Amino acid sequence: MTKIRPEDLRSRKWFNNPENLEMTALYLERYLNYGLTREELQSGKPIIAIAQTGSDLSPCNRHHIELAKRVRDGIIAAGGVPLEVPVHPIQETGKRPTASLDRNLAYLGLVESLFGYPLDGVVLTIGCDKTTPALLMAAATVNIPAIALSVGPMLNGWFEGERAGSGTVIWKARERLAAGEIDNEQFLEIAAASAPSVGYCNTMGTATTMNSLAEALGMQLPGSAAIPAPYRERGQISYETGKRIVDMVWGDVRPSDIMTREAFENAIVINSAIGGSTNAPIHLNGVASHLGVPLDNDDWQALGHDIPLLVNLQPAGKYLGEDYHRAGGVPAVVAELLQAGLLPHPGALTVNGQTMADNCALRRTSNDDVIKPVSDPLMQSAGFVNLKGNLFDSAIMKTSVISEAFRKTYLSNPDDPNAFEGRAVVFDGPEDYHHRIDDPAEEIDENCILVMRGAGPKGYPGGAEVVNMRPPSYLLKQGVGALPCIGDGRQSGTSGSPSILNAAPEAPDNGGLALLRTGDRVRIDLNDFSANILVSEEELASRLEGLVAAGGFPIPVSQTPWQQYFRELVQPFDKGMTLRDATKYQDVARK
Ligand code: FES
Ligand code: MG
Repeated sequence: MTKIRPEDLRSRKWFNNPENLEMTALYLERYLNYGLTREELQSGKPIIAIAQTGSDLSPCNRHHIELAKRVRDGIIAAGGVPLEVPVHPIQETGKRPTASLDRNLAYLGLVESLFGYPLDGVVLTIGCDKTTPALLMAAATVNIPAIALSVGPMLNGWFEGERAGSGTVIWKARERLAAGEIDNEQFLEIAAASAPSVGYCNTMGTATTMNSLAEALGMQLPGSAAIPAPYRERGQISYETGKRIVDMVWGDVRPSDIMTREAFENAIVINSAIGGSTNAPIHLNGVASHLGVPLDNDDWQALGHDIPLLVNLQPAGKYLGEDYHRAGGVPAVVAELLQAGLLPHPGALTVNGQTMADNCALRRTSNDDVIKPVSDPLMQSAGFVNLKGNLFDSAIMKTSVISEAFRKTYLSNPDDPNAFEGRAVVFDGPEDYHHRIDDPAEEIDENCILVMRGAGPKGYPGGAEVVNMRPPSYLLKQGVGALPCIGDGRQSGTSGSPSILNAAPEAPDNGGLALLRTGDRVRIDLNDFSANILVSEEELASRLEGLVAAGGFPIPVSQTPWQQYFRELVQPFDKGMTLRDATKYQDVARK
């Protein structure tokens, strides 16, 4: 449906402003200088940004450099003019101290590009973990018509005849290395085997999660999230995405029309069904807050916890990205949920102008071992719980990855099968952990709970993916494969540990984690979702007094200007790790 006339296009203010010929001339001449014509810039064609996240620094998204050619073809075919816009690189595995620090930097940069230049719509090239939320957040703030395009997962990795999934295979191999079963050379061979082609991580880590959720929110064409990067369909959907954004501009379909509260509720449910990463609440809460949509970790438990796990992908299951796509991808998952009446808002609008139900109702899976029916799920109640107590106000736990062995060891007290208590062993950051974990003097045994603090947004900064701590090697050799872990940092979505993560407030904000000492008893109770230090209130109050008097929980000095600004402005994980005041700026392109 056409709502916008050529004279209403935002880019006209730059390229065809009859009230200011002088500025029009200035804007025009420079965009002509590499070969664009006046006809392209002045005849009322929408100017479409391709927000380019691919680069040599960002191998996961690098294939977008190729795909952008097909996006351009689609934009031109539909009567638009494409302009490629570089986005600050975010490579999950390459950026020190952590890629998470750069999500908000890429967000700020893209907001300025989309706001300050003659752009009528944008294709968001998403993929590697933080690229997806960074671009969705920017689209939310600027609120010009936007459509997302995944780069797609890598092909399946194989090692010794088995599927070798990104990240997951490394968590397993590091245990084999620590136990002396493989050497350094074999360790690196296993890692390389998991990355056989262009694309993002092929496991259900944060990348597959966030790309699936971008589709679940309605921001991608149906089926787009799961198509592997090298497949021909990836190029074809790039072309369709380019065509579609031009129509979205004429129809004035904006991010705020699509990413509504209903869309986020759908996404939470779909996150449980796919077995999505514990990073998802941080990112979706962040995107929602930039749209003014209320969303918090209580919503994740209330809407998501009881949803069954349907997608059989590593780390919770056995398959990888190619299998997910062939089995039907997100639309097939949605079809299962729809049929069972579990999708809360089948009528939510998506970028192709159809609803979730229109797009997905008839998309049955072709392999019900990869995408299970609701009647035979991999697991019931696969969503997150939101734990609270004197240790923190909010922390996420993915109960679906609790293994049978873990359950037997820690959740098997017949009087209290859903609770465990242990002696806390506290680490101040990942370096402290690596330094002490294998030291027998720590006397770590299977009655211990490992605690990582100083690893949150301010502590690290950006929040380190370090909470999934392996037990000491002497325990691994005795067959103890996992200990309960708690922390104010994050955990890689490719890890299968049942950790208690993203705790807020983090230690530098003087929360309960900052008051904890090695040797304290800690109790986790999944009956009432509580997490407490078993120490008297008086004792905790006096520890807090001492901490404040000593100048608070120590954090390392910032190494770059951005680290300092980030620490000064960042909000806790449960608030989406957004920057203070940034969420005040909404719908800025219309102002
Ligand atoms: Fe980029 Fe996993 S490291 S997607
Ligand atoms: Mg990660």
